Amino acid sequence: MESAPVPYRKTVFVCVHSREDGRVACANPGRGGEEILKALKAEVKKAGLKGQVRVARSGCLDLCEQGPNLFLFPAGEWIRGASPADVPELLKKIAG
Ligand code: FES
Repeated sequence: MESAPVPYRKTVFVCVHSREDGRVACANPGRGGEEILKALKAEVKKAGLKGQVRVARSGCLDLCEQGPNLFLFPAGEWIRGASPADVPELLKKIAG
């Protein structure tokens, strides 16, 4: 094992966990987790930030009822209740 510098300027973890047992989850149908991830990845690429900003899939972050949830690193900012319509604002947050 070896420590190394963080390879990205920023990382956005987007919860894309889904469930089929009726319990709420960020990427259940109609919740938007997967759509947010795909749109954010596309916008990061379009903005020329690929390689600097990593948009990563996350498993359950354990605040499912408040989701869809995102976590911005290294800002330490938690975004809850996001929707695909928030992607332009999210991009502004991570592009700065
Ligand atoms: S499913 Fe997203 S926080 Fe649990």
